Amino acid sequence: MSIKTILPDRGVVAIVGLQWGDEGKGKIVDLFAQWADMVARGTGGANAGHTIVVEGVSHVFHLVPSAILRDADGVTNVIGQGVAFDPAIMLDELAELDRLQVSYRNLRISRNAHLVLTQHLILDQLRELKSGNAKIGTTGKGIGPTYSDHVGRIGLRVADLLNLDAFRAKLVHNLESKWAELQASPDLVKQVMRANTRLSPFWDDREMISVDVILSVYTEFGQRLRPLIADTESLVSQAVADGKRVLLEGAQASLLSIDHGIYPMVTSSDSTIAGLANGVGLLGSQVDKVYGIVKAPFMTRVGSGVFPTELGPAEDEVFADADINSQDPFEQCVAIRTIGNEYGSTTGRPRRIGWLDLPLLRHALRSGGDELILTKVDVMDECAEIKICTHYIYRGPDYDLGDQVLKPGDEVLVAFGDDALMQEMEPVFSTFNGWQQNLTDMRASGQLPAKLLRIIRFIEEKVDRRVAVVSVGPDREQTVVL
Ligand code: IMP
Ligand code: MG
Repeated sequence: MSIKTILPDRGVVAIVGLQWGDEGKGKIVDLFAQWADMVARGTGGANAGHTIVVEGVSHVFHLVPSAILRDADGVTNVIGQGVAFDPAIMLDELAELDRLQVSYRNLRISRNAHLVLTQHLILDQLRELKSGNAKIGTTGKGIGPTYSDHVGRIGLRVADLLNLDAFRAKLVHNLESKWAELQASPDLVKQVMRANTRLSPFWDDREMISVDVILSVYTEFGQRLRPLIADTESLVSQAVADGKRVLLEGAQASLLSIDHGIYPMVTSSDSTIAGLANGVGLLGSQVDKVYGIVKAPFMTRVGSGVFPTELGPAEDEVFADADINSQDPFEQCVAIRTIGNEYGSTTGRPRRIGWLDLPLLRHALRSGGDELILTKVDVMDECAEIKICTHYIYRGPDYDLGDQVLKPGDEVLVAFGDDALMQEMEPVFSTFNGWQQNLTDMRASGQLPAKLLRIIRFIEEKVDRRVAVVSVGPDREQTVVL
């Protein structure tokens, strides 16, 4: 069955990750983009990463929307106001598209998107260096400081690049709030600068961020981007009013949401459907259908923070030939990482690996997700025993939640959005026989092994959502519609 059979004739469809990112949203966006007239991003920034395949060769992009290959067919790609926009990275990616002869003439960038500037990149990395064990493990792309300035009301936005005087005034005002923090750690700042040669032109001989260099370099960036800068909020609303097919492309995922994730080990935008809709200028109620992407029956995380079902540390240990059926969870985790090629697309970090966690999924679904799409299922083809975490047993001391007191030994069905509290949860698993069959050539639901269908039904029943699609490989064709 083709994917088009499950998509509506018109309206707004969204794709949102329901775990810690890297669920394989890019492939699903690419697939759904075959349906869309417009594809819009509304959250995150260059912390995201997705692979675009041009003539059989994979290229990793961060800011360019995943559906850019459909530009030539007249599809409009939008970078919405909610995106943390790094003009330097954007221009690099556009140069790469030029080199690959991929058109982007229908790409539009919101004039209201907040800018990632030199100070945000330095501060992101500086704060991580300073926080030792409490570090979040950010991608170092300036995301946290950019959104902090946004809500701190000292941010700069894309249209500022086009207006020199306004840009200067806002930049000077913004930097006033940064000096004390930068001057308090001169050695660490030097360490950051040494690690990022791209930043050094903006750092003058008085060891200050150079306003003049930023102004001259970034206003030039602004002129180059000018043909793409627009009132995208109106473009998106108009497309919806005209009955176009609009696809919203989520970045990161619900458990990383600043508002609904497992705080504070989160990113700095609301990566649920609410933030995504808002970030392109729509109301959540204008979204007709939200597909929640779930890696299953294993899941991954990059960066720090709780991971109740984690199999082993995120280290690339050398196992000559790691066995996915090893009794040693660490070896099993290395095997899954190798088969699934689970390395961060933005940072290259090995991803942490664990079993599918239903309490976390139930938590994520509270902030949206009408139907589920399971991805990377084929990674577990050879696994003899599949485990799924159904609930937790709370192992910490009495913990007062206001309307509820958690007590040691309590059963917990829905995860809590608090990293420290979640550290006290012991996962309880249900065990299933693996299907031990190659899924990668299957295209129809009737071909799926009964043992896999049993697992899918179990997930559906436990989280009260239908599984609409199962992805059995990276290619567009390797997709089974249920
Ligand atoms: P930041 O978004 O760079 O501030 O990083 C905050 C947390 O979100 C870290 O744990 C990152 O590893 C994680 N993160 C940010 N973007 C992504 C993504 O696209 N995929 C997976 N994890 C991400
Ligand atoms: Mg990604």
